[in-house]
Amino acid sequence: MSLLKNKKFTSVEDVADIEGLVAKALAYKANPLKDATLGINKRIGLLFLNPSLRTRLSTQIAARNLGMEAIVFNVDKEGWQLEFEDGAIMSGNTSEHIKDAGPVLGSYFDILCIRTFPQLANREDDYSELFISEFIKHCGRPVISLESATLHPLQSLTDVITITECLKQESIIKKPKIVLTWAPHIKPLPQCVANSFAEWMNAWEGKGEFIITHPVNYELAEKFTKGATITQDQDTALKDADFVYVKNWSTYEDYGKIYENDPSWMLSLDKLKTTNNAKVMHCLPVRRNVELSDEVLDSSHSIVTQEAGNRVWAAQTVISELLQNNK
Ligand code: CP
Repeated sequence: MSLLKNKKFTSVEDVADIEGLVAKALAYKANPLKDATLGINKRIGLLFLNPSLRTRLSTQIAARNLGMEAIVFNVDKEGWQLEFEDGAIMSGNTSEHIKDAGPVLGSYFDILCIRTFPQLANREDDYSELFISEFIKHCGRPVISLESATLHPLQSLTDVITITECLKQESIIKKPKIVLTWAPHIKPLPQCVANSFAEWMNAWEGKGEFIITHPVNYELAEKFTKGATITQDQDTALKDADFVYVKNWSTYEDYGKIYENDPSWMLSLDKLKTTNNAKVMHCLPVRRNVELSDEVLDSSHSIVTQEAGNRVWAAQTVISELLQNNK
């Protein structure tokens, strides 16, 4: 029985069984090479249109654990600049259409992964997810999102794995209170990690209460947050929290702007005093002492390294499911 609904992994909507994915990921963590021959003689292509540390390396390790050959292609630096717009008159900077590149890539690889990015200029363009949807349409292979313009599903699966693992490690039976808090940043960042975390939390029956807190005018798209409690009072949100997920995002309504950079939104040890000795999460990279203070990141509250380590098991689980369902 597949744990995925579709031959792709781009959103929680492609998932049939979140708990099943988490259990499988934790089994891989306990025994990384248990399916070491599943991907023998198969190749996975990892295409990046922007920088990455964790996603790139953890996905390569995950593929290797399954016996697959992983080939990374930094399209932004080493490839022809791709055109994604249907009917484009290619007299500008783009040299190769995804209609041509997609089938070629599909002929080289058994599974394809792509990391795209939002331009943060036009909301409709970014939220149409043109890049990843055109890629899926033209490559003819199962596709894994390594982060798209609006979502980061491997990160969110990792986050659910990490929360579950912490609850098991501390033998906590109650469903946890989980808070997603906005944090300051110097640059406008995409909403994708926050959108994705909200989408997964709302879909995950294992969570208890889920609260999003952010300054005024930082509302995320309702499509992803629907079901969560939303407040602009960070102190109230943090009270009795078991997990605090820290992330900056730029504005969604007046798209891609920074309206607010109040440093008092940065999480401190003092703010954590009203929590239930909360674990602090962040997808990384993090701007220390802008988004999150040294005192929190270097304290026992922080589980950011454990979280980043779990990226391997999330990727291995998703690749394994796509391999098993495409035999
Ligand atoms: N969290 C995450 O996606 O990290 P990278 O940007 O380094 O891949």
